[in-house]
Amino acid sequence: MAPTREQAWETLTKYTQSEALRRHALAVEASTASYARRFAEDEEQWRVVALLHDFDYEIHPTLDEHPQDGAPILREEGYPEEVIEAVLSHAEHLGLPRDTPLKKALFACDELSGFVHACGLVRPDGIDTLESKSVRKKLKHPSFAAGVHRDEVYAGAELLGIELDEHVRNVIEALRQIAPQLGLRTATTAAS
Ligand SMILES: [Fe+2]
Ligand SMILES: [Fe+2]
Repeated sequence: MAPTREQAWETLTKYTQSEALRRHALAVEASTASYARRFAEDEEQWRVVALLHDFDYEIHPTLDEHPQDGAPILREEGYPEEVIEAVLSHAEHLGLPRDTPLKKALFACDELSGFVHACGLVRPDGIDTLESKSVRKKLKHPSFAAGVHRDEVYAGAELLGIELDEHVRNVIEALRQIAPQLGLRTATTAAS
């Protein structure tokens, strides 16, 4: 049986208590799912992989463990190899081929979702009026959201074959849909 999004959420929240990490997973899920719809791919499977990509980060916070040591846990939890392989492919240091649309989309959405999320958090109306231009400008300021690897953001868009400007717009739109779950203010909450 193919794993469901709910199962992946259960696995994620079993190993991850941090609100920030759960929100990161939700942001990457929303962005990746938007590309699944765009490419008419298996949205449920893409959501599963996106939710799980950093599921072990809290228990394996260093790259000598994450995400490779998470793989046996996912196997034990009954996830198919296809899902596990896609999860592992997001890690630069493992050097695995990103040879499917899912692997490309996950890589392209991972760092950028985190970055757009950070952009939304510093704005009074969250992500409501955030534009691609402002995100791209902030990308050039290394001190803003310094943990986000810019080279991976640029490489991701290229791998996906989508212009950076459009990719940023897609990720903004995807995150906007779930703004409250990401702790982002919206026009309604900002006014109150
Ligand atoms: Fe990761
Ligand atoms: Fe991530």
